[in-house]
Amino acid sequence: MAFQTYANQIGETPEPIHVSEYRQRQEKLYSQLDDNSALILCSPKEKIRSNDVHFPYRTNSDLLYLTGWKDPDCVLLAIKKDNVWTTTLFVQESNIELEIWEGRRPGVEGAKKNWAIDEAYPSESISKILSERLKSVSIVYHCVGFNIKVDNLVENSINSRNRARQQIGEGPTQRIDPSLLISEMRLIKSDAEINLMRYSANISSIAHIEAMKNCFTGIGEWQIQAIIEGYFKFLGAKNWAYPSIVGCGENATILHYHENNKICNDGEIILIDAGSEYEGYAADITRSWPISGKFSDSQMKIYNLVLRSQRAAIQKCVVGNQYIEAHIAASKVLAEGLVELGIIHCSAEEALENGELKKYFMHGTGHWLGLDVHDVGIYKPNGEPRVFEPGMVITIEPGLYFGDWRSDLTDLDPKWAGIGIRIEDDILITENGPEVLSSLCPKDIHELESLIGQSN
Ligand code: GLY
Ligand code: MN
Ligand code: MN
Repeated sequence: MAFQTYANQIGETPEPIHVSEYRQRQEKLYSQLDDNSALILCSPKEKIRSNDVHFPYRTNSDLLYLTGWKDPDCVLLAIKKDNVWTTTLFVQESNIELEIWEGRRPGVEGAKKNWAIDEAYPSESISKILSERLKSVSIVYHCVGFNIKVDNLVENSINSRNRARQQIGEGPTQRIDPSLLISEMRLIKSDAEINLMRYSANISSIAHIEAMKNCFTGIGEWQIQAIIEGYFKFLGAKNWAYPSIVGCGENATILHYHENNKICNDGEIILIDAGSEYEGYAADITRSWPISGKFSDSQMKIYNLVLRSQRAAIQKCVVGNQYIEAHIAASKVLAEGLVELGIIHCSAEEALENGELKKYFMHGTGHWLGLDVHDVGIYKPNGEPRVFEPGMVITIEPGLYFGDWRSDLTDLDPKWAGIGIRIEDDILITENGPEVLSSLCPKDIHELESLIGQSN
């Protein structure tokens, strides 16, 4: 297993986000803030998993978006005064003792040299510097909940009733959550972000393909998970973007199944929803296929129906369409197909209205994708469904689930029992139509059947 084997498929390693792009992002955000204001973004604290062990650390995506800084104990402070802004980063100080145990830190000096900031200070100095600087602003843009010390400082600076406030009106009087402004920016991906997302999707696609190739009757769901996540890491992704869902048989009918502890049997469909995180950017791919390598007649009928609905939805991912049109298209194909198969006994129009379709397709067709797997961006600004623009990335993931363990599906024809199919791809909206970022991952029945078990 050499990396070179995959090099052609995976493409060139993309450039990380350049310092100048972080600067542009900051400027775009700051230009929307009121003058005489401060922007504060904090990283979350590290969380203890057990005793001396922490959960793998992942910082706040907004902070990552504006600075690229990945380490814990970080605060971004930007002060805008007379329409000039200064960006300050508070970071973990270099500490040779700690670094010997826990790993290298860029420290204050590293931050000053290589990052899109004007000045850096050790995290320990946040209280002193922040309380001093807040005296000179009237608005604080700040998301609470990441750093209690900073939350309290901001709260106190707004509520303080000292002499300086009474005499010269010193200090902020208002806190505004900046997250919606940042979300709007994050919703439209730059070329550099798209390259990272395409790479993350390629890594994930290869991992899915390897799972298909190495599958055999009797393999455990956890072993398939190990193949997938092993390939994420082998191909350069530091982590998954969300816990992998690997569900076989009736587990495929549980949308966010996570136990991954069952043996995979002949005749069962496995549903794998797994995506890597590469340089902070998520891929989100689902494939569903038979363990035996051969779809049964009923499995094939359901699979092809979901695939048709997915293709219909992808076609709607064009500039100028409302995002909801993809869901409407997918739902219509599914409802008509289920009527045709005799699973739904009313008309397709009625099934779309009366909840019949929702019995088998109970989730949305997609969500924004980016630094977060369920990425930010208001779906209905001013109450109206968002219209697609170039640079948006959305997942398209219709599915049908026939869990015969469900008390609301007791009259289900046994031939559909236990089938769970979801097909999920990551779609970039472009001026030239939808680009399927995850197109490397096969989904046609004949391609799947020829891959499954091939490496055994
Ligand atoms: N992987 C979770 C989702 O598709 O929403
Ligand atoms: Mn998804
Ligand atoms: Mn998914």
